[in-house]
Amino acid sequence: MSSMVRRDFGSFHSSNVEELLDLPDDCFISLSEPFPLYDYKSDDKIPFGRGMNEKYFLLDNKYIFLNHGAFGCVLRQALEYSHLFQYYIEKQPLRFYDREIFPRLVDVIRKMAKFLGCTTPKNLILVENVTFAWNSIITSLNIDDKSHIFIMNTMYGAYKKYLKKICLETDAKLYEFSIEFPIDDINKVVDKIKLALKSNKFTYAFFDHISSQSPFILPINDLCYYCKQLNIPCIIDGAHALGSINLRFDYEDDYLPDIYLTNCHKWFCAPKGVGLLYMKSNSKLIIHPCIQSHGIDSGMHSEFLWTGLKDYTSFLALNECVRFWSYYDIKIIIDRNTKLAKDASDLLVEMWNTSKLTSDDISGPMRCIKLPMSNDNNGGFKYDDAEIIQNQLHHDYNIEVPIKNIDGNLYVRISTHIHNYIEQYEQLGNAIIEIIGKWHQKQENF
Ligand SMILES: Cc1ncc(COP(=O)(O)O)c(C=O)c1O
Repeated sequence: MSSMVRRDFGSFHSSNVEELLDLPDDCFISLSEPFPLYDYKSDDKIPFGRGMNEKYFLLDNKYIFLNHGAFGCVLRQALEYSHLFQYYIEKQPLRFYDREIFPRLVDVIRKMAKFLGCTTPKNLILVENVTFAWNSIITSLNIDDKSHIFIMNTMYGAYKKYLKKICLETDAKLYEFSIEFPIDDINKVVDKIKLALKSNKFTYAFFDHISSQSPFILPINDLCYYCKQLNIPCIIDGAHALGSINLRFDYEDDYLPDIYLTNCHKWFCAPKGVGLLYMKSNSKLIIHPCIQSHGIDSGMHSEFLWTGLKDYTSFLALNECVRFWSYYDIKIIIDRNTKLAKDASDLLVEMWNTSKLTSDDISGPMRCIKLPMSNDNNGGFKYDDAEIIQNQLHHDYNIEVPIKNIDGNLYVRISTHIHNYIEQYEQLGNAIIEIIGKWHQKQENF
């Protein structure tokens, strides 16, 4: 590999990263895995549901795991792939860190870029997680007293906190658009967002593709197009997108965001510690990693690809994830999980006589359904009430699912992945009915 390309930085004998990314497919030589790969064909396509956990996940059957949206849950084969690489690396650390790391990581980027329909592998950067990428963006943008920043109230809490702090320190103006729930017609919401975007000369606009607290799918391509007409750079947090919806980057340029962030360790089932930063080819934004090392001034990919000595095997394990998602077909998986989420939420609405937070047309495999106690105490619940019920589900029923307090009402946020099946949601439905029974009894005793 080193004979094909020019070394660019550090002691690495395997760079130049930027040149490796530029090579046409037929000139790029993939290094093969130093161990045999899992043979999915021998599994004969197991039906989604119960059998999936035994074969492809490590979930403890004692628990009903309906919270894939929190920290994901790893594909067993991808975890094993990363462990096999750890053993390989430690047998001769210099072989890997000095000679193989960049060709192997560039290979992963090239595969993921193809999988997602990017124009070029240069659109994609591997990061530990969305938070690392987000910090890198915020520290790279020139936010100052002339900046006007557009965000939505659904923005991930940690990021809103951080942006507020930055705006306070720099005197930048922060505009927060408020979405009201429940959402019945997303087009009306989008029209209001557009009006707000037009009302000011915004320097940057931030959107969640799928918000985590109150999940719904925002039509971001439409909003990116609108921002492009207004000349507002668009940054999208898609932490929940990869593996939960059919994320693609092969749209016409004007419909694409300047920057898009997604996690691979959530719905794509990679080992923890890998995400993607997508950068549109002609974006004017210049982003540096918030941790700088040898790649400094050698190009964006070189800067991001080495952020110090760490375990890079979660990045490499994307190879295994792509093999799995391709074998079972990402579109089929997403359709099945979305349908299960619809069926499960219909079932809970019927069991509890309540409602969904968002309509089916903008909901993926993660949805909120109102709890029946909200019927008696509309808007009057505290954060602690959600925590108490979530703890009861965890301790008394072995059900792992988050309870959310949205505008003073209690909701359960269910997730559906290929290891889930409808009976699990029925058990959740019954557990909540029991909890409510106890809740009412307690109130009567007072
Ligand atoms: C919408 C959203 N953005 C960002 C993040 C942060 O992800 P990570 O901790 O992997 O960086 C999360 C985590 O749950 C999230 O839900």
